[in-house]
Amino acid sequence: MSWTRDSLITAARNAASRAYAPYSNFHVGAALGFADGSVVTGANVENASYGLTLCAETVAVGKALSEDWRGKIEAVAVIGGKAGSVGQGDPVTPCGRCRQMLNEVAALGGSDPLVLCVGDQSVTELLLSELLPHAFGPASLD
Ligand code: THU
Repeated sequence: MSWTRDSLITAARNAASRAYAPYSNFHVGAALGFADGSVVTGANVENASYGLTLCAETVAVGKALSEDWRGKIEAVAVIGGKAGSVGQGDPVTPCGRCRQMLNEVAALGGSDPLVLCVGDQSVTELLLSELLPHAFGPASLD
């Protein structure tokens, strides 16, 4: 079974419902879509020590790499919003750290994934290379 643009967005929305975000009350979900048809999701995980917060995309990347999903990543869907209003505001774009985390997965599989930033009126579609130009990645260490 494979994912579609819409199912990836739905997977991100479902992931956001499992966010642990009692401090910001801002729930984010991310879904990584791989060429082999697999989808790995993540939600943000906050901490009483605020700065330790893990973003949804970072959780998804951690799950993917630790579960051995190192093939070609084709797309990423990100959605967020205040609890009860997820996906109802402007498109949510990945934070800087998450762009870097996503770049690692993309580099491993040799792709430039489409990032679907979901809002209420529109889905902003950007390549990861547009969000993170001139990226530092695994090849930078060669
Ligand atoms: N957050 C994400 O999960 N992903 C992003 O790309 C931006 C921000 C989370 C972190 C924090 O739990 C909440 O959104 C508010 O910043």
